Amino acid sequence: MAQEDVFKKLVSHCKEYGFVFPSSEIYDGLGAVYDYGQMGVELKNNIKKYWWDSMVLLNDNVVGIDSAIFMHPTIWKASGHVDAFNDPLIDNRDSKKRYRADVLIEDFLAKIDDKINKEVEKAHKKFGESFDEAQFRATNARVVEYQANRDTVHTRFAKALNDGNLEDLREIIVDCEIVCPISGTRNWTEVRQFNLMFATEMGSTADGALKVYLRPETAQGIFVNFLNVQKTGRMKIPFGIAQIGKAFRNEIVARQFIFRMREFEQMEMQFFVRPGEELEWFKQWKATRMRWHKALGFGDHKYRFHDHDKLAHYANAATDIEFEMPFGFKEVEGIHSRTDFDLSSHEKFSGKKVQYFDPELNKSYTPYVIETSIGVDRMFLSVMSASYQEETLEGGETRVVLNLPPALAPIKLAILPLLKKDGLPEKAREIMDELKFEFKCQYDEKDSIGKRYRRQDAIGTPFCVTVDHQTLEDGQVTIRHRDTMQQERVAIGELKEIISTKVSLKALLKSL
Ligand code: GAP
Repeated sequence: MAQEDVFKKLVSHCKEYGFVFPSSEIYDGLGAVYDYGQMGVELKNNIKKYWWDSMVLLNDNVVGIDSAIFMHPTIWKASGHVDAFNDPLIDNRDSKKRYRADVLIEDFLAKIDDKINKEVEKAHKKFGESFDEAQFRATNARVVEYQANRDTVHTRFAKALNDGNLEDLREIIVDCEIVCPISGTRNWTEVRQFNLMFATEMGSTADGALKVYLRPETAQGIFVNFLNVQKTGRMKIPFGIAQIGKAFRNEIVARQFIFRMREFEQMEMQFFVRPGEELEWFKQWKATRMRWHKALGFGDHKYRFHDHDKLAHYANAATDIEFEMPFGFKEVEGIHSRTDFDLSSHEKFSGKKVQYFDPELNKSYTPYVIETSIGVDRMFLSVMSASYQEETLEGGETRVVLNLPPALAPIKLAILPLLKKDGLPEKAREIMDELKFEFKCQYDEKDSIGKRYRRQDAIGTPFCVTVDHQTLEDGQVTIRHRDTMQQERVAIGELKEIISTKVSLKALLKSL
């Protein structure tokens, strides 16, 4: 099945089974804003818990905070967001549609990549085992021409972005003959900068209300609380502050479902270190974060690092952890060495000293910072897309199953009386009343047992327990495993142990 179709199916699966709904749906929705349903919220909470515990439980030098979404507006001046958190926009005069100029060019480059890959694939099929891909790429006239064109455009594009040169960006669009996907014309306006922060007003005084922003990242809440946490927690460098919370960006090109949203959630950790030691810590956090992702068991080939060539002016190293989504490898997490930029800037703008006295060195300094920043929603999408499977079973029947890592599954155990009579529902409820303190359980007595199994497969429940007449006599139930569909008879008293060894977050954390 084409990856595009898989993605469409995943989006409708998310809706059908209560994972993700378009926001304000009965009013026809609101662009790039989504709500999490009864299953989605459980999965999302489990992802957040996996991250939080891996940060603040496993590291005694990492503590958490929960800062407010509204912050003093000068914070966004100090962080550079007021002046530089912009997207370059261009309008097509015929369709009246607005685009991100950089995205139009990136899409153009991706199309050249597709052409090259198609040539390579074709040749691979033709020459079979003896195919030498590197040689083919270096010598095939058509591929060489495509590649040369790509390299030229890419170099111009990188320079224009680096220089913030909007005229050059427009010229690239014109020179590459990029057309508007709606009107098909090349009738483009100038490129303009557009700030991505949402602004609103706070209070109302005689002098007018204060213009405040909905935070575009959670990180600044950590920076401005650096001294509070360091002093009250008697923290010694190196130490980290973690936070999970909402962030807001007025994204212009909002697409790919929950990949790019206007309201989303971040899990960020700022790790404060001695100046000069930051690159060593950067390396360590890169490895730690990749281990966290890979421990979920989706396969190491699904992840890769993408080191940044172009660094933000305040960074001295940066990388993304990319995951293979149905629409290609995409950034899920950023790891940045942000130097002392943020703390120094807050010192300058607030007029307050934001430094650390290091008792070992007997001097004060502005700590350097390693940041790990992951989007909850992107993580959710990566987990869902890696777990969604359509299987053909013996006899030709198909089943849709979410092979979710058991520790993340919304429901750990479904409890199913075989029939709705003969005391079976009562026995099933009795088991549930015992186990609900251990795991999130779901009781279901509607429809045939086969249909109920399928419903649980579709939401990724690792275990189903069936209560039948025999249970009333011997105290045993049938436990069915989601992935293998194998069933076994076990004593009710054994359920807790069998299930918890598979679904516990503790085991996942221990594997890190
Ligand atoms: N404090 C650094 C920072 O915010 P970022 O690369 O802009 O860095 C970090 O964002 C992560 O937040 C991204 O890797 C992504 O997972 C998530 N993210 C950013 N913008 C998003 C959006 N519009 N929708 C969903 N997730 C987003």
